Amino acid sequence: MKGIVLSGGSGTRLYPMTRAANKQLLPVYNKPMVYYPLTTLMLAGCREILLVVNPADEESYRRLFGDGKQWGLEIRYAVQPKPGGIAEVFLVGRDFVAKDRVGLILGDNLFYGDSLPAVAERGAMGSGAMIYAYWVSDPSAYGVVEFDAAGQPISIVEKPKEPKSNWAVTGLYFYDADVCDVAAHIPRSARGELEISDVNAHYLKQGRLTVEKLGRGYAWLDTGTPSSLLRAAQFVETVEDRQGLQIGSPEEVAWRKGYIDDAGMEKLIQPIRDSEYGKYLQRLLARG
Ligand code: TTP
Repeated sequence: MKGIVLSGGSGTRLYPMTRAANKQLLPVYNKPMVYYPLTTLMLAGCREILLVVNPADEESYRRLFGDGKQWGLEIRYAVQPKPGGIAEVFLVGRDFVAKDRVGLILGDNLFYGDSLPAVAERGAMGSGAMIYAYWVSDPSAYGVVEFDAAGQPISIVEKPKEPKSNWAVTGLYFYDADVCDVAAHIPRSARGELEISDVNAHYLKQGRLTVEKLGRGYAWLDTGTPSSLLRAAQFVETVEDRQGLQIGSPEEVAWRKGYIDDAGMEKLIQPIRDSEYGKYLQRLLARG
């Protein structure tokens, strides 16, 4: 399964934190932000990953992830010349998608919940387009889904002034290979971007869109403003401290899913033995 992590953008709402560093490289508590969406895709079964990055940040991402082999992945990179909208990822990533179904996750989105792997796997295995909706108090900052009485989606509107529901479209999507042609044919919006809501609306019109509701037992956090970034960090710290288990560790997910074996994990631990993170991975390995 293929997956794309969208890690470009301008991060203007986090200025000046994003003046010299890309948003998705900033920490959420104890890991780079991009670790969280990457592990969500790994849990969905994606092992071929494309990172879409800004030109200035490619080197940093390569330093962070390399070719992904250390985690049993195949990681490639594509440069988005400038932020032109989320759906632009399918122009930049056309060769990567080729004829395959693909997952897309926004690099600043954090998902958490017990059945998340199963939920994401359904998207990976499904047909057409599959997106996830989450009940939020203020949906006007997101794409908003309206459902009919039978629970079927009937409209998706990007950042509506008067939302038809509280169901926001989250930053995790799965599409068939047609998505590259769909994205190539939608017009740019008034703000000059290729909108992912237009791609989703296209699939909806064709009757090929599934919207799965994520219930209130899940956490879906974004990290695009200073306060939401702090809240996400506090959430991760709270859960990790209580459980002694980490959220969003690619090493752990790779090891649990069998992408790497004990020896592979041991090799990853060696250079970071003395860090909190290294000690955590050692404890996992010792417990077996
Ligand atoms: P946004 O948060 O909508 O935009 P941004 O990251 O540029 O931040 P700001 O609004 O503060 O200026 O982007 C959502 C995610 O998509 C985020 O992870 C960055 C990514 N993205 C790209 O990689 N390329 C793009 O062209 C856009 C618009 C977003």
